[in-house]
Amino acid sequence: MRLLVTGAAGFLGSHLTDRLLLEGHTVIGMDNLLTGDLRNLAHLKGNRRFTFAKQDVSQPFDVKGSLDGVFHFASAASPPDYQRWPIETMMVGSYGTQRCLALAHAKGARFFLASTSEVYGDPTEHPQRESYWGNVNSVGPRAMYDEAKRFAEAMTSSYHRTYGTDTRIVRIFNTYGPRMRPEDGRVVSNFIVQALRGDPITIYGDGTQSRSFCYYSDLIDGIYRLFLSDRTDPTNVGNPAEFTVSQLAEIVKEMTGSPAAITYLNLPTDDPKMRRPDITAARKAFGWEPKVSLREGLAQTIPYFRKIVLS
Ligand SMILES: NC(=O)c1ccc[n+]([C@@H]2O[C@H](COP(=O)([O-])OP(=O)(O)OC[C@H]3O[C@@H](n4cnc5c(N)ncnc54)[C@H](O)[C@@H]3O)[C@@H](O)[C@H]2O)c1
Repeated sequence: MRLLVTGAAGFLGSHLTDRLLLEGHTVIGMDNLLTGDLRNLAHLKGNRRFTFAKQDVSQPFDVKGSLDGVFHFASAASPPDYQRWPIETMMVGSYGTQRCLALAHAKGARFFLASTSEVYGDPTEHPQRESYWGNVNSVGPRAMYDEAKRFAEAMTSSYHRTYGTDTRIVRIFNTYGPRMRPEDGRVVSNFIVQALRGDPITIYGDGTQSRSFCYYSDLIDGIYRLFLSDRTDPTNVGNPAEFTVSQLAEIVKEMTGSPAAITYLNLPTDDPKMRRPDITAARKAFGWEPKVSLREGLAQTIPYFRKIVLS
């Protein structure tokens, strides 16, 4: 297949690109490098099935030739990133999504949206099933991301209903692994980097809030299976093993052998208190199950950060 990946220079987009190339497809990667890094794609230099185009997908663009799939992964994704670029985040979730959908529709390609567990907001149902409509503050400090993704889902469903565009929507839960930026501000990278530097590990709130952490290889496998499946409804992909943020801090401290102290800061407004995917739909529709435990995933991720943080 000939496939477009937007956000290809990012953490997940670059891993997805690798997987698609490994499966024998041809990939056009597109990225404006807002939060991405070409070093994530450097190993693909000379690969004749990969081309890269620097492009803001919120602006008009075209792709010459046929396309079989459009993976729309472009978007700032961590809270510090999307709060620093709120308008860009809303633009890529709205205009960017519409442009990618129009392109997929024109080419007769399958469209795949990278959505998020943030569409559930600060959930009042636990674990979160796809049928849950969410609890999102439309004017709060996370709104630019949560609402952009909710809009993107609505736009995707509208293309599907109106034009019969072949669409897939994945709701990604907290994913970590190599190629995350040390400064990207997500909890796993924050804790590892703080522990390696011997800085205090900063917990927001009392640490009892829960998260579920998925290793990137499991997530990419779920994404590829969903893409190939015939499931058009939104689908959770994440690891249902749930940890409190305090537990994560302790595990990271232990695995890095760090003497770092743990400090507590105020919980940010609208921070979700619990997160855990119900993955029954993914299990049933395409037989997906995460395989990598948190400790196994951290054992792969800590050396990656050690190399860049301590060099
Ligand atoms: N990593 C996670 O835990 C997670 C969870 C839920 C959803 N997601 C979604 O997955 C996707 C990828 O996230 P990530 O973790 O790899 O983040 P990332 O910041 O590493 O990657 C995002 C990429 O999109 C690019 N980008 C942003 N705006 C763009 C634009 N207008 N035009 C072209 N490129 C643009 C950035 O430069 C970057 O390379 C995002 O859509 C994100 O919302 C990620």
